[in-house]
Amino acid sequence: MTEFLLQSDIAEICQRLGSAAHDFAGKTVLLTGGRGFLGRYFMSMFAHLNEHILETPCQLIAMDNLITAGKEGSEIPEIPNVTFLQHDVINPVKLDHKVDYVIHAAGIASPFYYRAYPLETLEVAVRGTRNMLELATEHGARFTFFSSSEIYGDPDPKHVPTPESYRGHVSCQGPRACYDESKRVGETLCYIFHEKHGTKTNTIRPFNVFGPGMQETDYRVLPNFANRIKAGRPLNVYGSGNQTRTFCYITDAMVGFTLVILKGVPGEPYNIGNPKPEISMVELVKNIEKALGKKVEHNVIEYPDSYPADEPNRRCPDIKKARLQLGFEPGVELQDGLKRFLNWADKVYTGVE
Ligand SMILES: NC(=O)c1ccc[n+]([C@@H]2O[C@H](COP(=O)([O-])OP(=O)(O)OC[C@H]3O[C@@H](n4cnc5c(N)ncnc54)[C@H](O)[C@@H]3O)[C@@H](O)[C@H]2O)c1
Repeated sequence: MTEFLLQSDIAEICQRLGSAAHDFAGKTVLLTGGRGFLGRYFMSMFAHLNEHILETPCQLIAMDNLITAGKEGSEIPEIPNVTFLQHDVINPVKLDHKVDYVIHAAGIASPFYYRAYPLETLEVAVRGTRNMLELATEHGARFTFFSSSEIYGDPDPKHVPTPESYRGHVSCQGPRACYDESKRVGETLCYIFHEKHGTKTNTIRPFNVFGPGMQETDYRVLPNFANRIKAGRPLNVYGSGNQTRTFCYITDAMVGFTLVILKGVPGEPYNIGNPKPEISMVELVKNIEKALGKKVEHNVIEYPDSYPADEPNRRCPDIKKARLQLGFEPGVELQDGLKRFLNWADKVYTGVE
């Protein structure tokens, strides 16, 4: 099964998990958003664990309504011990099989798509999260919610790098509110279920994860740039180009996510990302040029209508908590990650607009 991913990356994730992965042996995992960027990595990770590492296989139930799964996600591979259910998590679901872990990764993650689907974006994080929390509580399962670093909004520079304790600086009105605010409510639901019902909940706040498998028309910055490189068109940097981000390669992120799922302290949120380097979008272009070994033309332009403006100026995680409590340590340098991603995109992307 290729899933348009690098098998060497999947093997690296499983190897880096070491003995922790054995906790999945004989267990059942419900994964929502199973056909998205991260969902397909989870499917491939469980397939690899079952094939090469676990003595008793783990059963995976992957769920997705395919709203933004694209061509790659809509082709459902046949994998032993994996069942796919096409279902919208906004509607409750009953499962006959006892579930041990619920990973709620369904969401509308790309700013382009949450501008197009604001109500669906809000509902999947609020009603979808509540439905999955009820299911996890009924089954006595551990529950992990994929929140976002966007819950911090536009942090005051004195809170960058941003620790989990920072409360955020977020607008409840505006083009990004449907995403940021609904993720915040999703986290509140996790808090309520943990406090009131003792459900073992964790929230993960990923900081810009990238890697092979990102859809060419996802419109997040790196696939957007890779698409334009493939087409021989100049890159478009939106806004001032001075806004900063950190970028976490997918293998580092998947190890961090899985450690939270298995070992997160119940009730706790965790930042997962790579704090170094924090770079502006113009510096990202320079890094891409270095990774490709050639010049890449770029223009700094106004935000297009299709992309929500009002984006945070800086975004950089403080990952001390995941380091200390889970032993999480990102190890893939930006240049290495960019080379792996851009090489892959050059082979897979077509350059269509
Ligand atoms: N990738 C990142 O860098 C990043 C950063 C911050 C937060 N996140 C969060 O992590 C999760 C996974 O991210 P991703 O990059 O894989 O996103 P993605 O958009 O690639 O995948 C999400 C999947 O969820 C599905 N989905 C959406 N609404 C649904 C619904 N109502 N019912 C069932 N399925 C539904 C979509 O069809 C899609 O396949 C999302 O919740 C996202 O908000 C990701």
